[in-house]
Amino acid sequence: MATYTGKTIVVTGASSGIGRALCLALAAQRPRLVLSGRDEARLEQAAEACRARGAEALAVRADVTVPAQCQLLISRAVERFGGVDVLVNNAGIGMIALFEEVRDLSVFESLMRVNYLGAVYATWYALPELKRSRGQIVAISSLSGLNGVPYRTGYSASKHAMFGFFDSLRIELRDSGISVTVVAPDFVVSEIQKRAFGPDGRPLGRSPLQEDKIMTAERCAAEIIEAMEKRQRLWLGSLRGRVGRWVRLFAPGLIDRIALKAAREGK
Ligand SMILES: NC(=O)c1ccc[n+]([C@@H]2O[C@H](COP(=O)([O-])OP(=O)(O)OC[C@H]3O[C@@H](n4cnc5c(N)ncnc54)[C@H](OP(=O)(O)O)[C@@H]3O)[C@@H](O)[C@H]2O)c1
Repeated sequence: MATYTGKTIVVTGASSGIGRALCLALAAQRPRLVLSGRDEARLEQAAEACRARGAEALAVRADVTVPAQCQLLISRAVERFGGVDVLVNNAGIGMIALFEEVRDLSVFESLMRVNYLGAVYATWYALPELKRSRGQIVAISSLSGLNGVPYRTGYSASKHAMFGFFDSLRIELRDSGISVTVVAPDFVVSEIQKRAFGPDGRPLGRSPLQEDKIMTAERCAAEIIEAMEKRQRLWLGSLRGRVGRWVRLFAPGLIDRIALKAAREGK
């Protein structure tokens, strides 16, 4: 039997990109999936595709920035499937703008509310269920949660916050049977770039990345599942991310230059 057969997995941000790809890839193991996000039509479409692959699937509309909606998400999962085994905190938004060019300061608050607080709220409501199931928490942060990345100050800060929170929580939960896996992808093809806040606080509308040169959401999902199955504490999404972690200790300036080049070239 596969690791997640019959397990209840709640995924936030399941209507597109990595979250959707993760649900579709997990579906083959016949889990009970709870797909969450704000766009009900896209969620239902993703849920249907998961059912076609063998999973039970429930679509729940929830905005992670609203604690009551996170509470509702978890209670709908419990009502329907009797508990929660895995929570994947994946919902996220981006920004692409130089700090000094930002004209709408609310961008910084929005990034923290979705990327950081959204994960905190969903985790808080899921925790009693995860304790009962000795389950697992997966937090989709980013390599920009470990290093600074130009044009992404607010995004990088929100992803650093996720690392601080989930690395601390892992220690608190040491004797609970709950594992915490932090995931740090490099660039992945998804909708996050074109939906990212530009300098005026509105969606950029296009991706500045060279999408044929970066990881697909499907490949990213497959690698995340491998890390989840091993209850790994950390998954780093690229060779430069894995090597960079060590190089940074003695040549931090080199890592800054690599981050600048990656941001400018979009790959
Ligand atoms: N793509 C990359 O290069 C990359 C790299 C590193 C890390 N990541 C991280 O991967 C995660 C998934 O992003 P993605 O790249 O797959 O982007 P995406 O295609 O834009 O998907 C983001 C998902 O988050 C949901 N979402 C946004 N705001 C939300 C809110 N307030 N409440 C609930 N759901 C919300 C969206 O659904 P609705 O619009 O339906 O709400 C969507 O399903 C994010 O945390 C992102 O930071 C991505």
